[in-house]
Amino acid sequence: MKSTVRSQFNPAGLITVIVMCLLVAGLAMSRAQWLPKLQAIVQPEKTENHPAHKAGPAITHDSALPKQPPNNHVDCTKVPCLALTFDDGPHPQQTTRLLDILDREKAHATFFLVGSRVPGQEVLVRRMFYAGHEIGNHSWNHADMTKLSPTDILNQVNQTQAAIAAANVPAPKLFRPPYGAVNATVRSTVPMTLALWNDDPLDWKGEDPAKLSESIIAYARPGGVIDLHDIYPVTVDAMDIAIPVLKTKYHLVTFSEMTNVQPGQRGEYFGR
Ligand code: NI
Repeated sequence: MKSTVRSQFNPAGLITVIVMCLLVAGLAMSRAQWLPKLQAIVQPEKTENHPAHKAGPAITHDSALPKQPPNNHVDCTKVPCLALTFDDGPHPQQTTRLLDILDREKAHATFFLVGSRVPGQEVLVRRMFYAGHEIGNHSWNHADMTKLSPTDILNQVNQTQAAIAAANVPAPKLFRPPYGAVNATVRSTVPMTLALWNDDPLDWKGEDPAKLSESIIAYARPGGVIDLHDIYPVTVDAMDIAIPVLKTKYHLVTFSEMTNVQPGQRGEYFGR
């Protein structure tokens, strides 16, 4: 009895099998259409929720940025420190090359930006910040502040602060006066720390990266703040040679780490 029942023809079972076969075939045929949609739901665009992505145009490089800058505090009263500082950028090619070198060497630096050069380079500015570099203000158009009225000085400072903040990074606390030119009016008008230097290798005059790096290495000393410019290929080429050597002897730190200056602290600082 039992075997007869098992071999009995079952029309409902056959219909179920046919319907399932049709469904599988239909799904396989439409796979090309539904798969990308499903993937889009499962994997949204990686940069979508990145905080640095909110401002400015959607530039793919932002997707490579870390979510937070590193906590890279070094106590320069206890260990030998050197601060590499780069003025006059950002420069689309040379600053990018320099940031690549600093990433490779896991070194930190300070960038004093010319405000009028920031619009269009916001991704570079964000890259500086998220890599743990310090960003300072180097005026709007590299004017000599000692030749300007207090109103014009403040315009130079504030326009640059706004351009940098528009890149969605914190506005700087440091101001580096172009040419290092400071007088009583500049001191009383600029509401920021005046960030100067104690080592000027005159990189902008250099022609040979090997000679420039040799001289930077020879003059380097603990507490040094070196004035450089990330707009010249020779400077970046020299950094490619010098940084691997310098980092064996010094912690390569930001200006604020070197001087231990507190945010908003007034006065002129040259190094240690
Ligand atoms: Ni300059």
